[in-house]
Amino acid sequence: MAGFPTSLIVVGNEKGGSGKSTITLHLVSGLMSAGLRVGAIDLDFRQQTLTHFLANRVRWAEIEGLSLPMPRLVTPKPSSAESRATAEAEDAERFRSAVEALRVECDVIVVDCPGADTPLGRAAHAMASTIVTPLNDSFVDFDVLASVDPVTFEAKAPSIYAESVWESRKRQMVERRRTIDWLVVRNRMTAQETHNRKRLTHALTKLSQRIGFRLAPGLSERVIYRELFPKGLTVLDLIDGKSRGLTMAQIAARAEVRGLVSALRLPQLGRALAAG
Ligand SMILES: Nc1ncnc2c1ncn2[C@@H]1O[C@H](COP(=O)(O)OP(=O)(O)OP(=O)(O)O)[C@@H](O)[C@H]1O
Ligand SMILES: [Mg+2]
Repeated sequence: MAGFPTSLIVVGNEKGGSGKSTITLHLVSGLMSAGLRVGAIDLDFRQQTLTHFLANRVRWAEIEGLSLPMPRLVTPKPSSAESRATAEAEDAERFRSAVEALRVECDVIVVDCPGADTPLGRAAHAMASTIVTPLNDSFVDFDVLASVDPVTFEAKAPSIYAESVWESRKRQMVERRRTIDWLVVRNRMTAQETHNRKRLTHALTKLSQRIGFRLAPGLSERVIYRELFPKGLTVLDLIDGKSRGLTMAQIAARAEVRGLVSALRLPQLGRALAAG
């Protein structure tokens, strides 16, 4: 998709298990299915969820004789330098080279971060054009963005993670005259509208205005988002383009994934969708 600089989408949240890898692999799948050339960077060198998902995809395509769209993947190894400063510098360089290697051939790059503050993750946040932060319906997850008043449930001080996103934004504004689009997406939503959900939505809406992120619906709690992992597939791969044979739940899941992709508001996507 010539004409637009490659978008760098960083999926991050320093809370383990919030759904980063699940959101990442569905974004990769959704962006490929929209016709974009997609790069993927797996920064979780210990778990390598995204790397394993894509290896499963290659294997399944071979077994079934399928021609599945594939992203280009880079899995940078964290520096083993003993000095913290050297390790930070090496990791920043490794991340930059990964992006440079993919930029040439990709319209968009999606990065899966580990559930902790690491030098590679920090480098990714600093260079991001979009940050996607998945959040479960819980004040435990909300705490990764800001502390909460126990009586009014209003957000109080922004968290260290929110401050660090703010710092990256400031730096990009000064150095590159552009801002980072920060999207907080709800994950594992359930059907019932609880008291807790209402309070959380209220607190998130207020916080989004204060610290400047956009809120998007994201993904519901669905077995289909995890059961296809061993095959390296997502619900978009199920007879893509035909709705015949899909259950109502699968159709709803596909709509959610596509909604998540369009919530990114990528300029390349407008062009891809217009091109059919
Ligand atoms: N929307 C969803 N519906 C059903 N299961 C989900 C959903 N999102 C995540 N899960 C499940 O929750 C668990 C944690 O998700 P995931 O591995 O994506 O989180 P993570 O943020 O990448 O974790 P980590 O910080 O350890 O890397 C996994 O078992 C995953 O299959
Ligand atoms: Mg993960």
